[in-house]
Amino acid sequence: MSEGVQTPSAFTPRVFSGIQPSGNLHLGNYLGALKRFADSQDSGIQSIFCMVDMHAITVWQDPTDLRRATRELAAGFIASGVDPERSILFNQSQVSSHAELAWIFNCVARMGWMKRMTQWKDKAGKNQENASLGLFAYPALMAADILVYHATHVPVGEDQKQHLELTRDIAIKFNNDFGVEFFPVPEPVIEGSATRVMSLRDGAKKMSKSDASDASRINLTDDADTIARKIRKAKTDPEALPSEVKGLEDRPEARNLVNIYAALNDQSVDQVLADVGGRQFSEFKPMLADLAVAQLSPITVEMARLMGDVSEIDRILARGAERAREITGPIMKQTYEIVGMVRG
Ligand code: AMP
Ligand code: TRP
Repeated sequence: MSEGVQTPSAFTPRVFSGIQPSGNLHLGNYLGALKRFADSQDSGIQSIFCMVDMHAITVWQDPTDLRRATRELAAGFIASGVDPERSILFNQSQVSSHAELAWIFNCVARMGWMKRMTQWKDKAGKNQENASLGLFAYPALMAADILVYHATHVPVGEDQKQHLELTRDIAIKFNNDFGVEFFPVPEPVIEGSATRVMSLRDGAKKMSKSDASDASRINLTDDADTIARKIRKAKTDPEALPSEVKGLEDRPEARNLVNIYAALNDQSVDQVLADVGGRQFSEFKPMLADLAVAQLSPITVEMARLMGDVSEIDRILARGAERAREITGPIMKQTYEIVGMVRG
């Protein structure tokens, strides 16, 4: 598809990423996304983070739950270190450019591209006829989220790689169709040892907010005792930990716990194994539980504090949306001109 195409160097580096406010923010979201967002902001690149409420409603959301999840996600971002002053933090529906550009991209993207998306196939399942049209068009809205800021870098977990490739294809096709170099071809940033955190109950399944078993994931709202209990009960094998990475092959549950440890402790997997190689899980699990509690408890506490003042969260999001519109306004204006829309 779009392999080998370089981001046009004319574009200033800019980071964009989004998370759906659909409840149950978990350790996978923290390590695969939130923690890395804070790191990207700290590296000094302009960073824009969005609660994608319009993506969330591609499957049914109870309105009261959606409102709560949006605010809780905002609290999660801030508690994880995203500073709403240095970064731009807002919810998607407050910036109408996302929907406007998504419509144009619906007319650029091809049905065949969308049909190949594994997330569409997974979520629509056997009953595609009854899935929402929005679920099918989801990746065009995601491309719009990114490209309406001319973002060049998109930190995400492994599961979003295919959507990012589609975003690149849409940018390339738009530029070709209209004979312009208008949209950058953004790079996915999928880095670190926790781009795919697995379920604590099954090393073959991704940790997910939709897993029926609460024991499969660590929620960012879990208290210290719950975190420790879930780690104690996590599925493992009877072997001791190896001292080298190749000793983790074919041991998905062991690999997952070591990956989580490494990501929480800002270490490589090699470094972790150099320290813990030879130990039994009966020894390693309490170490992991202590580390997880130490890293996550302050976030849980801060989220709860922030959720105590919802009007402050709403004010932060409104201000973020205002700053976002300052960027998207001129880009949308030029897009309409390129496409040939008459705008008085
Ligand atoms: P979602 O909650 O599906 O909207 O995902 C939000 C962000 O978290 C995206 O960047 C995902 O790639 C990331 N993410 C979700 N689940 C995991 C997981 N199990 N491991 C690593 N990253 C994840
Ligand atoms: N599809 C992403 C997910 O489910 C969320 C998302 C929407 C996103 N728009 C985005 C991620 C733009 C990165 C950039 O995780």
